[in-house]
Amino acid sequence: MSIGVFDSGVGGLTVHHRLVERFPEADFIYLADQANAPYGGRPGEEIVELTRAGCVRLFEEGCDLVVLACNTAASVALRRLQQTWLPGYRRDVGRPVNVLGIVVPTIEAATGLPWEHEAQWREEKAEKLEILGVFSTPATTRSRVYEIEIDKRRQDVAVFSEPCPELARMIEANAPRDELAATIQGHVKALATRIGRNPDRAILGCTHYEIVADLFQAALPPGTPLIRQPDATADALERYFARHPEFQPGTGAVRRFLTTGEPGAQNSLVETFWGGPLRFEPA
Ligand code: DGL
Repeated sequence: MSIGVFDSGVGGLTVHHRLVERFPEADFIYLADQANAPYGGRPGEEIVELTRAGCVRLFEEGCDLVVLACNTAASVALRRLQQTWLPGYRRDVGRPVNVLGIVVPTIEAATGLPWEHEAQWREEKAEKLEILGVFSTPATTRSRVYEIEIDKRRQDVAVFSEPCPELARMIEANAPRDELAATIQGHVKALATRIGRNPDRAILGCTHYEIVADLFQAALPPGTPLIRQPDATADALERYFARHPEFQPGTGAVRRFLTTGEPGAQNSLVETFWGGPLRFEPA
């Protein structure tokens, strides 16, 4: 089988890149829904429907496992699809297909705890000691998934999210680095103003932002640790394969890149990050 990697656009390539390094022999098909990107400003129902359509496309290409390398899709759509659509779809296709997200691995990395960890509630609620900043799309911010799930597990961590409504679109559109830097500085400042100080650690909670992680690093106080979604997802997938030997990720080192948008080369920002040219086929 192939592993499908899905995002609204090029952001998920940051996760794909790390998965390929971690599983070099595995077969990968990447799907960018660039005809409908960005997802971050869309209503929830649309995000659910677009994510479902992306998964179907990848399953039809022969993937048995799809990784939603998109916080917006994972935080808004994944649970709904797992509960209401996937069981019936599995029955219809007669294969044990599955969809995984990147929010759970990120929360595991941020808390240092496995997802199943039950919060150890103490008599008195612990004083919040550490401030964790999350930069994400408006839809991910609205879902409050990072606040809710981290608060359940770590009472000593307070999460504050900053929505960045224009950033994924700017990255898709190859915006100049100085414009990207100014936008990112604005969001880092806005978050610090709201909290009253800078965060101690940060999550780049949109996979597009990993492409400009250096600009976030430069805008945050020196040395602020960033929780890296590509690493967290690769670690989680390794554990998943160990628990689910029925999913065999192939051995042909297949690399295909599909887009619902304009096929062909991707923009220079993406190619610089990728380290070379990258050609997409029509989905
Ligand atoms: N890269 C995506 C994410 O992680 C989607 C950005 C968007 O389409 O708005 O949220």
